[in-house]
Amino acid sequence: KFEGLAPTPPMGWNTWNTFQADMSEQLIMETADIMVSSGMKDAGYIYLVLDDGWMTMERDSLGNLVPDPKKFPHGLKAVVDYVHAKGLKFGMYNCAGTLTCAKYPGTRGYEYQDARNYAAWNIDYLKYDWCNTKGINAREAYTTMSNALRKAGRPMIFSLCEWGVNKPWEWGAPVGQLWRTTEDIWQVFDSVHSHGTWDALSVMRIADLQDTLRRYAGPDHWNDPDMLEVGNGMTYEEDRTHFSLWAMMAAPLMAGNDIRKMTPATKAILTNKDVIAIDQDPLGVQGFKFSGKDSLQIWFKPLQHGDWAVCFLNRGSRETAVNFNWKQTAVVDNVFHYTLKQDINYTLYNVWTGKNEGTTKKPFTAAIKPHDLVMFRLKQQ
Ligand code: DGJ
Repeated sequence: KFEGLAPTPPMGWNTWNTFQADMSEQLIMETADIMVSSGMKDAGYIYLVLDDGWMTMERDSLGNLVPDPKKFPHGLKAVVDYVHAKGLKFGMYNCAGTLTCAKYPGTRGYEYQDARNYAAWNIDYLKYDWCNTKGINAREAYTTMSNALRKAGRPMIFSLCEWGVNKPWEWGAPVGQLWRTTEDIWQVFDSVHSHGTWDALSVMRIADLQDTLRRYAGPDHWNDPDMLEVGNGMTYEEDRTHFSLWAMMAAPLMAGNDIRKMTPATKAILTNKDVIAIDQDPLGVQGFKFSGKDSLQIWFKPLQHGDWAVCFLNRGSRETAVNFNWKQTAVVDNVFHYTLKQDINYTLYNVWTGKNEGTTKKPFTAAIKPHDLVMFRLKQQ
């Protein structure tokens, strides 16, 4: 892979969660405009990624993928140039199998040719899916594409969308910058959403599955618990809890809502600089669930310069009380070996109110609403 492209988790926007294959040059250009005018770009959202459905159902006579001329009547290059001119980067999608999940032509057998085309189209990011891969070895298939991208010569982030089926965390770091750890997310907080043959995962279910994987993540090689569902139908509290948790997990932050129509509340969540700073912290340590008792979960994440992030999260459907004594609770990161210091009085900076709310000298007590949380940055000074 190209080294050093993702020192912090990649951030951007992707078509899939809202539009599936229903995309157009108008959608992409308008989205690029809003990414800039809404402040999303300034907040760090840089990659604009076309997911499944950007191409025609067949390759051309020379075996090249063809951007769908109905969706991109002025050609793909015009759209890529437009996005680049906005100071954003452009991403695309294909699949390691013979067909993509939506049955467009997959890359199997065309890896070097497709990579050359992406480079010629000035693409900066490739998401690579895992449908229609019967009999294919995952590690080999992703390694082949990674090598093909290198050979094509244009630095591109390589996003392994392998759903965690073949433990990509064990072999993905030299291959790409991020790997999906689960099947697809759905815009529900804590319940199952059935797609008939498979179940999509809720925000909390995905969070449950990350804890054992944190040892594998770090700068340039991230666990990817899937794209954001902020603004896609959950409540305000659920959306900000989802966003906060993804930040605690040092997850890639790929917005998946129609940002042309987002409410001020959705925009405020997605562009909360203090939460994003926790996600993007240069230390690159994925946070961990410190405790989960009844409906109350407590998460910690070590940050640079000795700071920490902490979340008190109510997973349940009734208000819950917290009483946390910083001086009598040993918080230790057993994997990366950080310890919350009891001889320091950290300042409690509430990242959702933007206010300092005391220090760790006194126990923290609060009542937390259902599906909501309190999130602090613990500042050493
Ligand atoms: C499955 C992936 O997990 C999704 O994120 C999306 O890329 C779809 N495939 C596209 O078909």
